[in-house]
Amino acid sequence: MSRPRQSDALRAAARHWTTGVAVLTARDGDEVFAKTVSSFTTLSLDPPLISVAVAAHSPLAAAVRKEGRYAVSVLAAGQQAVGRRFATPGAGRALGMFTTVPMHAEVTGAPVLDHCLAWFDCRLQAALPGGDHALLIGEVLAVDGSPGAPLLYHDGQYRELAADHAMTSTGANA
Ligand SMILES: Cc1cc2nc3c(=O)[nH]c(=O)nc-3n(C[C@H](O)[C@H](O)[C@H](O)COP(=O)(O)O)c2cc1C
Repeated sequence: MSRPRQSDALRAAARHWTTGVAVLTARDGDEVFAKTVSSFTTLSLDPPLISVAVAAHSPLAAAVRKEGRYAVSVLAAGQQAVGRRFATPGAGRALGMFTTVPMHAEVTGAPVLDHCLAWFDCRLQAALPGGDHALLIGEVLAVDGSPGAPLLYHDGQYRELAADHAMTSTGANA
């Protein structure tokens, strides 16, 4: 199989993986960067670490490397427009905090989105090479979350939970 076909197969298979939607944010001086991401994972509870993969040569990755701080804001159902905006090429870069998508600073000074479902304010611990992406591992210095329904991404589309279909058992093998 040729490399381009492998890449098509990878994309096609990845469409079956359902994720939440988050916005990765960082600042470099007065400049603020934001990018919609689905690669967010809670990596470790003790110490508290999260990971997120970001396009290696993006200005956002450069800002994270330079400043050593960033935030991940988890989008709620109904924040689809925010997800779309920060997935639009060139739209996730501004001077000062974004006016149409309000943000504020918590502990590190990295921008955190207002009105999101949860946020993680991080100090960069490592930026590992991952092909065309960099895997950012961050130590969570401050975190918060509130109840609410999440925005989802599946099969190339934003989605919301249709109803609460939570299974009765929460444990594995139960
Ligand atoms: C649902 C969704 C998830 C995404 N996840 C990631 C991700 O985890 N990492 C990443 O670097 N880009 C991700 N992207 C792509 C970026 O959001 C998008 O390429 C980028 O913001 C385009 O702007 P730019 O070209 O100015 O960087 C995702 C896009 C969407 C719609």
